[in-house]
Amino acid sequence: MIRSVVKGIGTALPERIVKNSDLEGMVETSDEWIVQRTGIRQRYIANENETTVSLGAAAARAALENAGLTPDDIDLIVVATSTPNNTFPASAVEIQKELGMTHGFAFDMQAVCSGFIYAISTADLYIRGGMAQRVLVIGSETFSRILDWNDRSTCVLFGDGAGAIVLEAGEGKGLTSDRGILSANLRSDGSHKHKLFVDGGPSTTQTVGHLRMEGREVFKHAVGMITDVIEASFEETGLTADDIDWFVPHQANKRIIDASAKKLNIAEDKVVITVDQHGNTSAASVPLALGAAVKDGRIKEGDLVLLEAMGGGFTWGAVLLRW
Ligand code: ACO
Repeated sequence: MIRSVVKGIGTALPERIVKNSDLEGMVETSDEWIVQRTGIRQRYIANENETTVSLGAAAARAALENAGLTPDDIDLIVVATSTPNNTFPASAVEIQKELGMTHGFAFDMQAVCSGFIYAISTADLYIRGGMAQRVLVIGSETFSRILDWNDRSTCVLFGDGAGAIVLEAGEGKGLTSDRGILSANLRSDGSHKHKLFVDGGPSTTQTVGHLRMEGREVFKHAVGMITDVIEASFEETGLTADDIDWFVPHQANKRIIDASAKKLNIAEDKVVITVDQHGNTSAASVPLALGAAVKDGRIKEGDLVLLEAMGGGFTWGAVLLRW
């Protein structure tokens, strides 16, 4: 059977680091509050020349180089983002242009913080359906542009960045020992819209709007939703928490990550944490964390990796893949 195998990974971050202490002068907050409630110590914030497209293109170039491929080898680009450069066209086609590609096709996916999980599973279906051999899957965000910098309950939580992987069609035996994507489970429930949303848009206010969140409400649902969908992935594949080599969760809040890992019985030393360095970069957080753990040698070929995310919508999902 066809399996979608990861051939390369790349990441890109803005130049400017903003530490918690830098925010103390902007809103009434403290490094201590932010670290204790979220685990975040710093985040990267894009300058006006750095955009979702420029960061996404930089991550894509790094992933192609890591894979030993060129843009000519790519059939499809899927970009997970909620902060596109323009309402349209898709940031994916702008990244396609940046890469010098005039063949193939490209589109954006919008599932907020779960975007990368949705995008990987979509790319997997295109590959297994035979419509693409190699797909660039990118998560790229500039959430700093949609934050209300006067709202201390949200502005301290988010950061900007991008990560990308190249998926390629490979041969598998249909076993969980195969390399590639082994399972993907996606969920959404629009009845939670008001708990995490942006209060603007082309069809309503004709403005971009600002992110609004009832943090405590999101927190309350997060752990249950995340662990439910992961347990569904375990059931589907027959794999268990003990089989996991690396747990790479969405990096929203260290307390949510810790509570999810504990409920699932995943050992602490298997959990990849980058929220301290990047803050919540929405759809970019999972590929940024993957990139960090590949770069420092933790994730190696053949390792079983569990990805998960939960975000606005609500949307949530989990992917099991063998690196
Ligand atoms: N600095 C200091 N105090 C603050 C700050 C701040 N930056 N922000 C809020 N506070 C205050 C509040 O005003 C409140 O004060 P009060 O008790 O006098 O009213 C107090 O701190 C506690 O506020 P809570 O909101 O109850 O704090 P909580 O412990 O819930 O932590 C947080 C807030 C970090 C937002 C948490 O609820 C959380 O992480 N929620 C989940 C967010 C998340 O995971 N989002 C994921 C999806 S993101 C996406 O999809 C785009």
